[in-house]
Amino acid sequence: WVRMVTAQTPTNIAVIKYWGKRDETLILPVNDSISVTLDPAHLCTTTTVAVSPSFDQDRMWLNGKEISLSGGRYQNCLREIRARACAVEDKEKGIKIAKKDWEKLHLHVASYNNFPTAAGLASSAAGFACLVFALAKLMNAKEDNSELSAIARQGSGSACRSLFGGFVKWIMGKAEDGSDSLAVQLVDEKHWDELVIIIAVVSSRQKETSSTTGMRDSVETSLLLQHRAKEVVPKRIKQMEEAIKNRDFGSFAQLSCADSNQFHAVCLDTCPPIFYMNDTSHRIISCVEKWNCSEGTPQVAYTFDAGPNAVLIAHNRKAATQLMQKLLFCFPPSSDADLNSYVIGDKSI
Ligand code: DP6
Repeated sequence: WVRMVTAQTPTNIAVIKYWGKRDETLILPVNDSISVTLDPAHLCTTTTVAVSPSFDQDRMWLNGKEISLSGGRYQNCLREIRARACAVEDKEKGIKIAKKDWEKLHLHVASYNNFPTAAGLASSAAGFACLVFALAKLMNAKEDNSELSAIARQGSGSACRSLFGGFVKWIMGKAEDGSDSLAVQLVDEKHWDELVIIIAVVSSRQKETSSTTGMRDSVETSLLLQHRAKEVVPKRIKQMEEAIKNRDFGSFAQLSCADSNQFHAVCLDTCPPIFYMNDTSHRIISCVEKWNCSEGTPQVAYTFDAGPNAVLIAHNRKAATQLMQKLLFCFPPSSDADLNSYVIGDKSI
């Protein structure tokens, strides 16, 4: 017999960034972070996990290519889920797995991303969240999504925020064993559903410095990171939670843009400096800043992760349409800027 479970998990985009770990193995951050989870119809990972007595080893395929499961992060997630596995019985298919059997049984995992892997579009976030969620269902683990988020966190920090829709906060926690470092949902996806998220894909090439290495260097060398984690983010988190609760777009946009810019300033303050944004990214920022300024009140927020692609969050459908027109004007299809825009959340624009 084979028992199979398939799950789909969207990626999330941080509006208050996670950058820096206080524990590299458990993946414990130096500050809280807040993200918005994208519509699962667009940027997501689909993962099928299977178990069978005929499998002789754990194996995994990513986008059709076999990859090694020997890495510490995969092993940590597998170990944590196996420890929580419960008995499963499916009389129709003749499947009976006792709790203790999970130790001996092997797994096969097949995962697909419908967006570029490692191009700064948070593919590891959706990937590990989906893996942990699918395994938990396969193994009949009883943990709720926050408890599962603490396991996904050990795969990739940002993954813990993809277990929920809407706006999500990753609480950094204080415990040394990481048990209180988990994600909670602030509001669900219906709370602020007029927002439209557009991702301007500046480059789908693999980034040069991974988030993991980049943040390690920042922790070791950036004084700005220390100041950010202790003084700036705690205040911003409170202000951002208020802005989201009140659907206050002006404050939301101001905080998101400032936080993205500070994160990239920390990257520049790192030795050697890390450059994730490129000239096209900078031009997008100028374009949005100019437009927001001319409107008097912000219409669009921008945020950039560890890559040059822009995540643009428009106040509503009208602002999103105007933004697309402006982007097309600034970056006509014939320009050498290589900008392809994807519209997330509202396909009709
Ligand atoms: C810039 O979660 O990819 O996207 O924990 O080492 O796997 P690891 O890093 P990762 O870092 C994401 C950094 C970020 C900001 C964010 O998502 O909060």
